[in-house]
Amino acid sequence: MGEHQDDPGDLLPLRQGDRPLGPHPLRLRTHGEALSSTNWSHNDHFHGWVLRSLPDARSHALDLGCGSGRLVRQLASCFETVTGVDSDPRIIQGVEVPVNARLFASDALAVQERADLITMIAVLHHLPLRSALEHVADLLNPGGRFLCVGLARPRNLVDWVWEAGNVVANPLIGLLKYEKATPSPARIAAPSLTLEEIDQVGSEVMPGLRIRRREGFRHTLMWSKP
Ligand SMILES: C[S@@+](CC[C@H](N)C(=O)[O-])C[C@H]1O[C@@H](n2cnc3c(N)ncnc32)[C@H](O)[C@@H]1O
Repeated sequence: MGEHQDDPGDLLPLRQGDRPLGPHPLRLRTHGEALSSTNWSHNDHFHGWVLRSLPDARSHALDLGCGSGRLVRQLASCFETVTGVDSDPRIIQGVEVPVNARLFASDALAVQERADLITMIAVLHHLPLRSALEHVADLLNPGGRFLCVGLARPRNLVDWVWEAGNVVANPLIGLLKYEKATPSPARIAAPSLTLEEIDQVGSEVMPGLRIRRREGFRHTLMWSKP
């Protein structure tokens, strides 16, 4: 099973609603085009799910691949301390966070902080899947929770039917939330693994992992460490 490679030549179907609609919303775009024209992130739509799914223990939270720290700021009001980590130092430079939060630049796999909550929002497909999940499982305190919003490569009929539904739903989410959104300068990448592949590896590393197809061309993973 191949792990993800950032390949700017990957073809991505234009995801309607990721930005104000252009003239040819269904044509295939190169990943580079999608990157340069995406000015709103549907990832923020899932912050509510994260905040509703927090573990009981609220000592420390870790947001891996935090981008410009929007989730970190929200988690700071729920946890004693929060750390956001991103491998791109430019994206966290100058970003202000509450006093109980901090941001630093690092590869997610090099982080050595234990946490009650680890979040990854649209990040897992940038990383080698198995090592990333093993690392998260190691860092979590017993009873801690992993909440992840992911993207997968559609492969089978069910995947494509779900994608088609998102073609309708995504612009609606954008319309409802666009006014409140801020541009996201975060690096994006095309997912290379299918939902089935993510489920298979995920369930091996994190027995009992719950995986759900979600709106916005995304899925969620939730796991509580025994
Ligand atoms: C699509 S953005 C999502 C950002 C943020 N989580 C959000 O929801 O807006 C993916 C982020 O993952 C970061 N990233 C990619 N590879 C990483 C790695 N190995 N370690 C840490 N962060 C990484 C990128 O720099 C980028 O900010």
